[in-house]
Amino acid sequence: PYPWFKTMREQNPVYFDQTIGSWVVFRYADVKQVMTDYEHFSSAPPDRGDGMNMFANSMLMTDPPRHRQLRSLVNLAFTPRMIEQLHDRIDGLVNRLLDDMLAQPEPDFIRDFATPLPMTVIAEMLGVPTADQDKFKYWTEQIITSSNNPDMSKIVPIYQEFGAYLFGMIEQRRNAPQADLISDLLNAQIDGESLSDMDLIGFCALLLVAGNETTTNLLGNAVRVFSEQPAIYAELRANPSLIPNVLDETLRYYSPVKAMPRHAHTEQQIGDVTILAGQRVMAVIGSANRDESQFPDAETFDLHRKGNQHIAFGHGIHYCLGAPLARLEGKLALEAMLKRIETITIKPDAQLEPIPTPITFGVKNLPVLITTSE
Ligand code: HEM
Repeated sequence: PYPWFKTMREQNPVYFDQTIGSWVVFRYADVKQVMTDYEHFSSAPPDRGDGMNMFANSMLMTDPPRHRQLRSLVNLAFTPRMIEQLHDRIDGLVNRLLDDMLAQPEPDFIRDFATPLPMTVIAEMLGVPTADQDKFKYWTEQIITSSNNPDMSKIVPIYQEFGAYLFGMIEQRRNAPQADLISDLLNAQIDGESLSDMDLIGFCALLLVAGNETTTNLLGNAVRVFSEQPAIYAELRANPSLIPNVLDETLRYYSPVKAMPRHAHTEQQIGDVTILAGQRVMAVIGSANRDESQFPDAETFDLHRKGNQHIAFGHGIHYCLGAPLARLEGKLALEAMLKRIETITIKPDAQLEPIPTPITFGVKNLPVLITTSE
């Protein structure tokens, strides 16, 4: 999409897309404004209440003051300090997954590593048995893909199954609390009231969906960079202190969340365009992060980039809750890879299948050729 983003930034930076019935915003400053200015651009879906969107009750799709109340219930579990306590568990998991991937005759980085890593971590935090992983992967994928599809008939049963599963888990914890996030949320109150079942389901669904495919894409997109520019991987191996740089530059260059929707509360100006009250606006993060006016040499992957103010995790009150977790997973994954893998490239004959949504940027498969240093 990147050549198209560039053209749009230059020629048509605020554009009405008839096919999705939404404004689309491409420049860094405009994208940041739309994502940050919650008083004018709401995160709540206009069709809230049709019961079909289980995230409608989640913090991602809520405006203040409810947003702050919901977020404060889980903020503590996601602070860098709390996340650091998962260090050894995640490191162990990373190395087990690498063992398995390196033993495969035909390794696929997405299937063998980048998918199970975040899924296992978030499932453990919530208290979902690891044995249900495949079901989760399926539901997550279907739900993300459906955001692109006006035909709801296929997705309704998925929401129902996923909702019923989560409901069952919540009931179990209600009867027998454990040391996990779901049990904590069952004890939580807002203004003296416990969360409703729909609130709880919204929480679980959001964490499962927001935390999985995004992190999978970050890892997969990094491997795409290594494959396209092997010199970058070689430099990292020589100097692993560049890991934070490579994570941030991958987040900027191949942003895992490509775009997020808002809708205008009231009539708004963006540049010389007037957005009417109630209209939808897509903030294209993937384009903002390639805006030359913000990032010199924006189309170049620069391991030594200074002042990388990318907005891959969003900006403002909805800034990604899971950013410290995604960063820790990324860091531990890369540390272990750099130690154990000498070169990693996409198989020359591989047919990569892009994830077919306007929201995320990544691929479904990544068959790789690996040489190890073991
Ligand atoms: C919000 C990206 C990983 C949980 C967001 C937003 C972005 C984002 C762009 C802002 C959405 C908006 O403003 O509408 C990413 C990326 C990730 C990642 C690129 C990985 C590389 C995670 C993980 C979790 C998570 C691992 C949880 C385990 C959330 C939640 C929100 C959020 C709960 C909503 C926060 C709010 O509404 O206040 N993420 N995310 N994310 N993310 Fe992430």
